[in-house]
Amino acid sequence: MQKDSILNIILVGVGLCIVCGAVISTVAVSLRDQQEQNVIFDQQSKIIDAARLLEVYPSSQEALASIEEVVVNLNDGQPSSFPPQQYDLDSILRDPSQHTVLNGSEDIAMISVRENLSKVYIEYRNNELKTLILPVRGYGLWGTLYGYLALDSDLNTIVGLEFYKHKETPGLGAEVDNPNWKKLWNGKKVFDENGLVQISVIKGFSNPQSTDYSYEVDGLSGATITSKGVSNLLAFWLGNEGFGPFINNLKNKEIKLSDV
Ligand SMILES: Cc1cc2nc3c(=O)[nH]c(=O)nc-3n(C[C@H](O)[C@H](O)[C@H](O)COP(=O)(O)O)c2cc1C
Repeated sequence: MQKDSILNIILVGVGLCIVCGAVISTVAVSLRDQQEQNVIFDQQSKIIDAARLLEVYPSSQEALASIEEVVVNLNDGQPSSFPPQQYDLDSILRDPSQHTVLNGSEDIAMISVRENLSKVYIEYRNNELKTLILPVRGYGLWGTLYGYLALDSDLNTIVGLEFYKHKETPGLGAEVDNPNWKKLWNGKKVFDENGLVQISVIKGFSNPQSTDYSYEVDGLSGATITSKGVSNLLAFWLGNEGFGPFINNLKNKEIKLSDV
């Protein structure tokens, strides 16, 4: 067969495609476990960052060792006996028997369904709850933002807010990852004296003289939709459909820490 015949060109092209495809799929399959592990490491590092644990513990390993995972029933705000290591949010969200479909007015975070069980993280210091770290998610402009909100032992003061996955635009909505913006969350309060969720991202700058200063975080400029999405997801997850009942039970000591 001639080297530059049509048949030879087609055979070489097809052969190359098969060889390259085989190499790529072999690499993809062999790296899958590693990629899944990296996703878990990334989420763990966001939990540690949200709770600012590296300011207290010398290493991530020691920080992680201080945290207990607890699966909470969001319907009654009580801890469940479900084993945390078997918890899989993706399968819960696919299984109608394990989640609740939210109606329009309930769904302020625009997540459509809410898991009945959620896995939360509790950092204990001297056998006392020091930090409660809650998984949160909600729609921004381009997709759902996934993150962790860490509350101090008063269950009202924010320690930190970190997102580990989102589709917002770099330089605009993706400024949720800007360390300077993330710093603004530390010390803000989530509930007012009546127990209502007040924390929100406002448009522009929060005024230190304002009576609402402790509930307000500066908006992301040019990204009001993402900012609103962050306000909405916090309102949802701190409210009655989210962790509100669990937080109230903890505050009212209706859950003994030893049970958790
Ligand atoms: C290509 C493109 C990407 C954008 N990405 C975002 C984004 O990630 N988050 C966001 O809130 N707004 C984004 N916007 C801007 C919104 O459409 C909207 O104008 C903005 O949220 C209004 O914010 P402002 O009132 O602070 O200007 C984007 C706009 C364009 C053209």
